[in-house]
Amino acid sequence: MVNSETTMKPNSTTSNVVASMKNVTFRRGEHIILDNITFHIDEGIFLGLIGPNGGGKTTLLKLMLGLLPLQEGQIEIFQRAPGDLESQRWLIGYVPQRHEVDKNFPASTLDVVLMGAIGKAGLLRRISKESRQRAEQMLERVGLADLRDRPIGRMSGGQQQRAFIARALVSEPRLLVLDEPTSGLDSSGQQQFLHMVRELQRDLRLTVIMVSHDVGQLSHYSDQIACLNRRLHWHDKSELLEDHVIQHVYTCELDAYAGLVRELE
Ligand SMILES: Nc1ncnc2c1ncn2[C@@H]1O[C@H](COP(=O)(O)OP(=O)(O)O)[C@@H](O)[C@H]1O
Ligand SMILES: [Mg+2]
Repeated sequence: MVNSETTMKPNSTTSNVVASMKNVTFRRGEHIILDNITFHIDEGIFLGLIGPNGGGKTTLLKLMLGLLPLQEGQIEIFQRAPGDLESQRWLIGYVPQRHEVDKNFPASTLDVVLMGAIGKAGLLRRISKESRQRAEQMLERVGLADLRDRPIGRMSGGQQQRAFIARALVSEPRLLVLDEPTSGLDSSGQQQFLHMVRELQRDLRLTVIMVSHDVGQLSHYSDQIACLNRRLHWHDKSELLEDHVIQHVYTCELDAYAGLVRELE
């Protein structure tokens, strides 16, 4: 059975570690949002991150990406501090938690995907022919080639999410970070989406961190599962496939969870 102490992934200094946190604590005012988080993710892994609303998932991702200032502890991503990534930022493809796209937003789907090339090309430089080709390829990969000229605001939620993934992949990143990309999709849409991400991961040799509410589907497609509720808990995947465990794991209530473990023993 899972014991959050013994299964906590230790930090590591080997070069195939894509990102790591060591004793990271983050506060907002009096509130501790993240409490002493230590973990690392190895290259090529699909990590599923679950947990209740307000558990700190988005905060953890933003700290890792250098979008929030580090207060306490250490973070490394591609062997650098997040704030020192600068010209290496293209190594990471990030799809933030979804916001409504204005249905009159004046950009085609291809335009949106091409925006992903700006980071690598530099804002004032022309987007290269290679980037343009890559954008078209990625649109094809996510099944939107036929819709490249459609305004982004006129696409369904699921199609927009696919376009945002294509945008995140244009720079040829090594790490893809997805914050609740399937929220708002129905169950079969979620499954198709996860299947697509898994294939992209395999074909493009990506490391993936994906936040999702759907524990069942995420545990099916990911290699590792961690649950964040202020603290981070790692879970054995095989156990997550058993329905009756999911609710306890999802809420990350350690007391309830310890009770369940006793029950099952
Ligand atoms: N900009 C902000 N200002 C104040 N509190 C915030 C802000 N962003 C997040 N929080 C708080 O931090 C906690 C963690 O939020 P978040 O990381 O978004 O959780 P999750 O992504 O797991 O839902 C929540 O209590 C949330 O209210
Ligand atoms: Mg969030």
